Amino acid sequence: MATLNDLLNVLEFEPVCRARISKTSYDYIAHGTDDEFTLRRNREAFQWMTLRPRVATDVSQMDLSLDLLGQKIEMPILICPTGSHSLAHPEGELATARAAGAMKTIMAVSSASSYPLEKIAAAATGPLWRQLSAETDLDSTLEEVQKAVALGCKAIVFTIDNKYNSNRERLFRNRTAQSDLLAAVSGDSTRAARRTADRPNPYRLGWRHTARVTWPYLEQLASRTKAPLVLKGILRPDDAQRAAQHGAAGIIVSNHGGRYLGADPATIEVLPEIVDAVGAKIPVLIDGGFRRGTDVLKALAIGARAVMVGRPPLWGLGAFGEAGTQRVLEILQTELALAMGLSGCPNLASIDRSVVRIDRRAG
Ligand SMILES: Cc1cc2nc3c(=O)[nH]c(=O)nc-3n(C[C@H](O)[C@H](O)[C@H](O)COP(=O)(O)O)c2cc1C
Repeated sequence: MATLNDLLNVLEFEPVCRARISKTSYDYIAHGTDDEFTLRRNREAFQWMTLRPRVATDVSQMDLSLDLLGQKIEMPILICPTGSHSLAHPEGELATARAAGAMKTIMAVSSASSYPLEKIAAAATGPLWRQLSAETDLDSTLEEVQKAVALGCKAIVFTIDNKYNSNRERLFRNRTAQSDLLAAVSGDSTRAARRTADRPNPYRLGWRHTARVTWPYLEQLASRTKAPLVLKGILRPDDAQRAAQHGAAGIIVSNHGGRYLGADPATIEVLPEIVDAVGAKIPVLIDGGFRRGTDVLKALAIGARAVMVGRPPLWGLGAFGEAGTQRVLEILQTELALAMGLSGCPNLASIDRSVVRIDRRAG
């Protein structure tokens, strides 16, 4: 079995993680929906663009730091909200939060975390954001928001692409009964029951409260939230514009890592039109398939303010616990610094769209 120092890049953590955790836990982390088309496309789309290095600029001093929604962090790479980190390692989110803190970046804590937010906040050594989804009504959602803000979370990530439980065939094949799957996905059977209890179910769908979230709801949520509200799950320029108009402080271009609608585009494919639509009004973040520093640089060049990673920190956690997650972040940071240096960009402000060339789009 490989040791931590044997692994040269982020992708190499996946097989080590897979060998160390149960098959059902691995499949929960790895799967995409339907035929996993979007999961694959998130990776493939990076091949449709190349970097255009600039020469003879002074890159002898590199600086990857930035200010993001009031937080000074050391790299434009953040940890996505992902549920149930204890499937990867018993210390779960406590270890992930410490790894993020060591790297001076932000961890977004999932609403389906295996540890309560209080414990994660107590363990954290750096800034946390809190990811939430709609509760039964706006007031109940605001209660969760207030709890997170009181515990020191610096922004609320509000996920809006999970309107129904999605078709997760790998999990069904593992004979996770459909009713159990709701609990497995949320990490909490009472929460799953609450989400679905008050609705008829004519098409056998697992309904969630996100299904009735509309722009007026989001506007009220933003105006009553005493922290920046970041909307997660935007894939269209018109929705990005609406998000800015209705009070979002930022957006995350995301297809949930290929885990909801089975035919979403890759996120990097839609990033240019979304950045063009929003301009500099609010920061645009992105996640989905980022595994190399060059992937991150492509997104920054198109105009993303920062990139988030979902599965890689979990691979690090499953493979080597906290040290593994920290190493995953270190590798991404080093690769990004190298990609920037070799492209002639000493800091984030010097990166612009001329650094990337979109060679082709899939038909
Ligand atoms: C195991 C797992 C659990 C996830 N849980 C959540 C969640 O609770 N809330 C949420 O908004 N997104 C969740 N996501 C989606 C991630 O936030 C993110 O959009 C996605 O993982 C990014 O793609 P990547 O894994 O290719 O980096 C989850 C993703 C994974 C892999």
